[in-house]
Amino acid sequence: MTDLHVVPGDLLPPPPPARRHLLSVGDLARGDVERLLATARSFALSQERDTKKLPTLRGRLVVNLFFEASTRTSSSFELAAKRLSADTLSLKASGSSVEKGESLKDTALTLSAYDPDVIVIRHPQIGAPQLVARVTDAHVVNAGDGKHQHPTQALLDLYTIHAALGRLDGVHVAIVGDVLHSRVARSLVQALRLVGAHATLVGPPPLLPAGLAETAFDIGAIAAADVVYVLRMQRERMEEGASYVPSLREYAARWCVTPERLRPGQKVMHPGPMNRGVEIDPRVADSGAALVVDQVRAGLAVRMAVLYDLLTAGPALVEAALEVA
Ligand code: NCD
Repeated sequence: MTDLHVVPGDLLPPPPPARRHLLSVGDLARGDVERLLATARSFALSQERDTKKLPTLRGRLVVNLFFEASTRTSSSFELAAKRLSADTLSLKASGSSVEKGESLKDTALTLSAYDPDVIVIRHPQIGAPQLVARVTDAHVVNAGDGKHQHPTQALLDLYTIHAALGRLDGVHVAIVGDVLHSRVARSLVQALRLVGAHATLVGPPPLLPAGLAETAFDIGAIAAADVVYVLRMQRERMEEGASYVPSLREYAARWCVTPERLRPGQKVMHPGPMNRGVEIDPRVADSGAALVVDQVRAGLAVRMAVLYDLLTAGPALVEAALEVA
């Protein structure tokens, strides 16, 4: 019989291959999500100090390219890069003035001349981040493409749920409202599945796409959920002339998340921007059940983790980075 000499290191899984881009939740395995959330937790602790800046990405360049309106996502990517000591270059372009296809390619090629390490892009057209990824050497992060994907939002939502409930496995999230036009919902449903949680979509039938998750048309269905995740009517993505709900007043009467429709202990989330009085009652938005501000704070830590993960060798270095600071 041969003697088996097992060196402890042999039992360790190989380090994950360096990930080029974060374009979709589909790019991630459960282990990636767990690593990113753990890294984000370390960075969140670093943000409780008086000196919040870490030297980790000094000398790196992060370009933020926003072709669509954004408050939370653009500010948190910019601050995340700055808190890691990277240089940032943030460009905004109004959707109407920007040609699609070639001109996006030209913009990407122009900015590539500065050798950015990461390009963060939000664009109304599905697949725009993939196009940029094809023409540049930078790591590309999708900050929202049309109604398709918004992977860093899904990660910050998982982070927030885990922080509030202490678990992800088995958690039930009711996603209420305009799911049809929501990249946030598409990404979140996928991410929840990845970590052993699940979603029910609740709202008017024309706004619930088929085949994504189980659906319910009655707002009473939110009672079964641990977390009620509220979406706004994304009118800018609706087909012109199409009528999805009779009126906003009618929508609010049937699907607005009010204190009366919640049960004690439920948590409420919203990616923002909120339309108070339409999809969410102001009394809910301002209550202790609402995790909306926690989501924004999580956005900073999670985006620091995503930039860090793309640009460095792995989680062991987080501790080292924090020690140097
Ligand atoms: C969302 C988006 O842009 O997809 N907002 C965000 O990133 N926080 C949701 C929305 O616009 O309704």
